[in-house]
Amino acid sequence: MALLEIRKVTRRFGEYVAVRDVSISVESGEFFTLLGPSGCGKTTLLRMIAGFDQPDGGQILLDGQDLAELPAERRPIHTVFQSYALFPHLTVWDNVAFPLKMADIPPAQRKAQVAAMLDAVHLSDRAGHFPHELSGGQQQRVALARALVDQPRLLLLDEPLGALDRQLREEMQLELIKLQRAVGITFIFVTHDQSEALALSHRIAVMKDGDIEQLDEPSKIYGLPRTRFVADFIGNCNLLEATVTACRPDGLQLQVPALGAVEAPSNTAAQPSQHGVLALRPEQVHITPRPPAECTLNCFAGKVLDFLYVGDVTTYKVALDNGQAIQALLPNTAPGRAKFFELGDRVWISWAPEAGHYVPD
Ligand SMILES: Nc1ncnc2c1ncn2[C@@H]1O[C@H](COP(=O)(O)OP(=O)(O)OP(=O)(O)O)[C@@H](O)[C@H]1O
Ligand SMILES: [Mg+2]
Repeated sequence: MALLEIRKVTRRFGEYVAVRDVSISVESGEFFTLLGPSGCGKTTLLRMIAGFDQPDGGQILLDGQDLAELPAERRPIHTVFQSYALFPHLTVWDNVAFPLKMADIPPAQRKAQVAAMLDAVHLSDRAGHFPHELSGGQQQRVALARALVDQPRLLLLDEPLGALDRQLREEMQLELIKLQRAVGITFIFVTHDQSEALALSHRIAVMKDGDIEQLDEPSKIYGLPRTRFVADFIGNCNLLEATVTACRPDGLQLQVPALGAVEAPSNTAAQPSQHGVLALRPEQVHITPRPPAECTLNCFAGKVLDFLYVGDVTTYKVALDNGQAIQALLPNTAPGRAKFFELGDRVWISWAPEAGHYVPD
């Protein structure tokens, strides 16, 4: 049995449907992420799981028990928000001890649990400090410790790293993975940052306008997007408008208006004469100064229109002779400021027939 079962849950605000008929089961021990753009309903769904809000339709079950009648404070579920909401007048120790005090846990046991939790978030040496004496990342770790100290069945995290700068955020992502593994508590994590979702999660539900577009493990969300929205939202992606001309077991033939015939991997969802897009990641696209040895399939000439150097990689935007723009990514593995191509350089763009992924409309 799944730990958490969300069955056909809907939430309306007046005419507006914020969450529409959503069904999800989350397994015990899972790091599950709700990912989607601002306003897609992530927080609304989380609030219903926590018990701060009620669905207009559907059911939420925890360990097989319907939560409808159980008020928020009696659910074995805690939430960590972007704002840490620590008690400013309590020390780190007392902040973390607070839920145990409320639950009348005897002092000796309380002490052991707080000490173990502070150790898990690497804050044992800050136990006597007040929140304002801590960095943002440290404050967020205290909030995590406080939420985990009484061992909830489920921890909900609503953009908990949103307020942190990029470097700290990446450090905290690694910490979160380790912490979740160590405590073995199920996490439901909310973010609108796709790279964060890919890095952290066992599974991801990509949401759009209150619906789930795709629920899958990260590599499938990235490599085999089921809709145009998912392909576009998750990472940088070339989306080539295409019509299916032939479906063979070994691959698809597509007609791309500007490019002509293009070969793509087979996809059981494809039908002859169907319209869709070929989603092609920039790192799957080769860019070379001369035509590759076999320039027959998926191979086109063009010139460099633009490029973006971001240190480890450079993304080139190429205008093909036939008018199509396409992005190709090159890793900067050579030392120094590697720059392979200049603006206006003549280049060849190619990709393997097994690269890319066709997505029907
Ligand atoms: N109490 C409310 N009354 C009316 N509309 C609401 C209420 N709460 C949320 N909404 C609307 O429901 C939609 C979903 O909101 P929600 O907060 O769940 O989005 P989100 O995915 O968490 O976005 P973000 O990434 O910006 O936090 C939004 O359009 C929002 O305006
Ligand atoms: Mg939100």
